[in-house]
Amino acid sequence: MHETSAPPEPVLKKDMGRALISAERIAKRVEEMGREISEVYADIDTPLVLVVILKGATVFAADLLRSLSIPAELEFVSAASYGSGTSPGKLRLAHMVEGPLVGRHVLLIEDIIDSGRTVSAIEKRLRKLRPASLRLAALLDRPARREVETRIDFTGFVIPDRFVIGYGLDYAGLYRELPGIYTLT
Ligand code: IMP
Ligand code: MG
Repeated sequence: MHETSAPPEPVLKKDMGRALISAERIAKRVEEMGREISEVYADIDTPLVLVVILKGATVFAADLLRSLSIPAELEFVSAASYGSGTSPGKLRLAHMVEGPLVGRHVLLIEDIIDSGRTVSAIEKRLRKLRPASLRLAALLDRPARREVETRIDFTGFVIPDRFVIGYGLDYAGLYRELPGIYTLT
């Protein structure tokens, strides 16, 4: 028989720094973003296409999708760096959208805009598919390290120059399950 004991501590809790954005604040902001996006696209005559950047943006996208009051489809893209170690290499798209985007209204969904390189490379590729419009929604904007000028049409929160985890964002593949956003210690 097992002894009754307290539930186990999250194994790597030591990496979790201070809470930056609570799950409640995220939920409220994502609802607002959903309303704003639904208003902007109120008059389009085909369903909006959400193009979600794997993997970090999936949690945000799932909540955002359910806060929309307009029809929307889901597509995914995945970017991988050719670079080795810490030097940022050229980006290659490891997965591209499956459906045609010609004439469609496309909203790219990203978790965080840091240097801006990821979305810039993906937008370049998506434009070649001749969408009717292409906009960007990002849960987090960390402008301190921007290298490529990036226009963010819908921003959740602007954050200081700290690496963050939770709500889809990972550190070495972990912590995506945290309901709020935390700094890394
Ligand atoms: P960028 O290309 O430099 O703008 O980087 C954006 C990508 O890097 C995002 O898709 C994230 O996956 C990842 N990233 C950047 N900053 C963080 C962070 O603080 N936590 C987790 N992932 C991050
Ligand atoms: Mg990412």
